[in-house]
Amino acid sequence: MPAYAVLGAQWGDEGKGKIIDVLSRDADIVARFSGGNNAGHTVVNGQGKFSFHIVPCGIFWPQTMNVIGNGVVVDPDVLLDEIDGLKEQGMDVADRLMVSERAHLIMPYHVALDALTEQARGKSAIGTTGKGIGPTYADKAARTGLRAADLLDIEALYPRLESILEYTNAVITKVYGGDAVDVDDVYAKCRQWSERLSPLIGPVERIVNDALSAGANVLLEGAQGALLDLDHGTYPFVTSSNPTIGGVSVGLGVHPGHISDVMGVFKAYSTRVGTGPFPTELNDDTGAHIRELAQEFGVTTGRPRRVGWFDAVAARYSSQVNGYTSAIVTRLDVLDGFDSVKVCTAYELDGEITQEFPGGVAALERCKPIFEDHEGWDSPTASATTLEELPKQARTYVQRLEELIGCPVDVISTGPHRDETVLVKRLLKV
Ligand code: GDP
Ligand code: IMO
Ligand code: MG
Repeated sequence: MPAYAVLGAQWGDEGKGKIIDVLSRDADIVARFSGGNNAGHTVVNGQGKFSFHIVPCGIFWPQTMNVIGNGVVVDPDVLLDEIDGLKEQGMDVADRLMVSERAHLIMPYHVALDALTEQARGKSAIGTTGKGIGPTYADKAARTGLRAADLLDIEALYPRLESILEYTNAVITKVYGGDAVDVDDVYAKCRQWSERLSPLIGPVERIVNDALSAGANVLLEGAQGALLDLDHGTYPFVTSSNPTIGGVSVGLGVHPGHISDVMGVFKAYSTRVGTGPFPTELNDDTGAHIRELAQEFGVTTGRPRRVGWFDAVAARYSSQVNGYTSAIVTRLDVLDGFDSVKVCTAYELDGEITQEFPGGVAALERCKPIFEDHEGWDSPTASATTLEELPKQARTYVQRLEELIGCPVDVISTGPHRDETVLVKRLLKV
């Protein structure tokens, strides 16, 4: 009956997509529970290279059912494009994909509002992905959202849409000076979505719970990362959902007793896209070198990612929030060839040394990293599949990360391809 959570442990883009593809070999169900198409998850395997924004990354394993939970916000156009793209590549996924009837829909006016609010924030812009995520979750909390189930009852949707747009258009035009959205245009889109998506909309929460009761392996695919969490991240420079462990229960209707393992995915260094504090950021040639070497550019927006050394203060905090039973370290190979590698073990804040991750963004901005130096490794880790293949210094580095994070590193990723993986331990029970 176990559910296994795979969560982003930093600021997103840790390599969750690759890890989900690897671990799905032993999964019956793979489920997204939070976020939307702000996510960009890369999978590289024998079938090619793929970027997923909404379809779970377990889809390549034919035994898996892939579900999108109630906590996810779904842009139907993006979902349909992704399904069509997979079909063009020879994969018909429709019979192995289900969207919760309770999942909220990202509407065209949410995307418009995302752009308008970012513009209005001026210098304090968050640097969102522009996919309408914040406005959709805001409508959900305000109880003015539309859900996948509403596409099953298309006639009843029109008057609701009319009333929502009366208010939303006033905000768009009078507050932000934007262009009003036409109710009939949006409704025509809803009709098209209803025709194509209705067969995919179903009782995801019941199906997942029935599977867990029957002893199936459910793999929970995190999106974003702990430090982007609406409550626990570097607010306000966060996303609008809970990518941390609590988000699993809420976003999929699975009670915590079902979750046996919580895996935190960490890059061997750090990156962040968008604005907000980043204590170990490298604004120098080393940062630029890692960015180029590792091709650290966003999957969803193409923006250059900010790069820094591994931050163990943030990592311990992330572990405190999520209670990792395993850590997964990705992109170790990116550090191949460096003379030395640094890890931040504490911050200096206003003249005091601290290992606390401050709750306030102003204090976090003032934190200066205190680094320890690690010897680089003389032979590459790239493509290694066993611990024995890793050079001694790389193993020492991973052991130090293990100590600092406070749980065993059970998977090490040494390249983007599915096979470039050191599985220290088989994580899903079979
Ligand atoms: P996600 O959002 O957490 O799924 O991560 P992204 O897909 O946005 O970014 C991770 C990037 O790193 C992708 O380009 C992956 O193909 C790549 N990647 C994943 N694991 C490794 C690894 O171990 N080594 C290298 N070099 N690249 C990796
Ligand atoms: P994956 O799943 C990295 C960041 C954005 C921005 C902030 C808010 O690929 O790891 P939003 O559009 O969510 O309102 O933007 O969150 N962000 C991500 N950064 N990886 C992601 O997802 C992200 N999803 C959102 O860059 O700073
Ligand atoms: Mg990503």
